[in-house]
Amino acid sequence: MIDPLDELLEAARLASRSAYCPYSNFHVGAAVRAGGRVFTGANIENASYGLTVCAERTAAFAAVLAGAGPIEAIAVACVDAPEGSDPVMLMPCGACRQVLSEFAGPSTPVIVDRVGRMTLADLLPMAFRLRPLTDG
Ligand code: THU
Repeated sequence: MIDPLDELLEAARLASRSAYCPYSNFHVGAAVRAGGRVFTGANIENASYGLTVCAERTAAFAAVLAGAGPIEAIAVACVDAPEGSDPVMLMPCGACRQVLSEFAGPSTPVIVDRVGRMTLADLLPMAFRLRPLTDG
């Protein structure tokens, strides 16, 4: 049987092909499952470098815009990182960890291509919130 998290990872890898990354040439794909549906994203760069948006955020925002509800699982693939890359070159950035924490709970599974499975709380313990988690 195919593991749904592996399927999500495959969706992330595929989504990396849609990246707009003429400056870094570093294609990143992300996929999130929300409301039982899969939403994908890829990094979108800008000539004004700081305006770049990462793959994880474009995927999360697609789910939010669709009104799909809380994110249930996350997958990320940095397909251009060289073989044997240090895991730090494959991990979601800090800004994306905070954004994902807005729409996904601490125990949400995260699968990072060529690194492994973890939870969102592993990536960002005690994420900032304006309200306690129990308030939904
Ligand atoms: N990037 C992502 O899409 N996600 C991350 O978590 C880290 C970095 C993108 C941003 C930029 O387009 C490229 O990777 C190089 O930093």
